[in-house]
Amino acid sequence: MTSEWTELGADAGQASQSSVSERAFRDVMGRFATGVSVITTVGQDGTPVGMTVSSLSSVSLDPPLLLWSLRLSAPSLPTFRQAGKFAVNILPSDQEHLCRQFAQPAADKFRGVAYSRDDDGLPLLDGAVAQIVCSTWRRYPGGDHEIFLGRVRAVRAWDHDPLVYYRGRLSGLRSSADADDDASS
Ligand SMILES: Cc1cc2nc3c(=O)[nH]c(=O)nc-3n(C[C@H](O)[C@H](O)[C@H](O)COP(=O)(O)O)c2cc1C
Repeated sequence: MTSEWTELGADAGQASQSSVSERAFRDVMGRFATGVSVITTVGQDGTPVGMTVSSLSSVSLDPPLLLWSLRLSAPSLPTFRQAGKFAVNILPSDQEHLCRQFAQPAADKFRGVAYSRDDDGLPLLDGAVAQIVCSTWRRYPGGDHEIFLGRVRAVRAWDHDPLVYYRGRLSGLRSSADADDDASS
């Protein structure tokens, strides 16, 4: 992409324009570095469900709210709608394989994954940087995605280095806690 402005007009996203505009939008948003989470929930029969998500964002402190968006065509959408609750598992730098495993539809995405369950049956991944348990507060239409607004019920965190997603690539980030330790030694 050049530094010239690319116009995304009112008809951006229509069939005639979508290839150029969608690519430009994805390219520019890919320059917003994010963490990576696996957001999990549980089916009525107890089946664990999870998917890789980078659209997580903090919304409100009082009450504590966060949001993420889920593609309307994703197979896991009906389960997230029905469950009314979900858990955010923020991935550490050494769990790139989980990012990939949970980013593809599969009958048993949890095969070989170390996890426990909270009292409501929500899957909590071992080794996460943080786990955030939410009830679904509201759901909103968001174009080809649905926006889930979660009311935060419980949190816990560790000092593992986080996984970072930037321009379509994954990398680890050394945590500032480590950097502070180095600086003082
Ligand atoms: C780094 C990364 C971030 C992603 N973020 C999202 C996201 O925020 N929302 C979304 O709907 N899909 C996102 N995806 C794609 C889903 O993980 C993927 O479509 C997954 O297969 C959905 O689960 P399901 O097929 O079991 O429904 C992301 C994929 C990757 C690799």
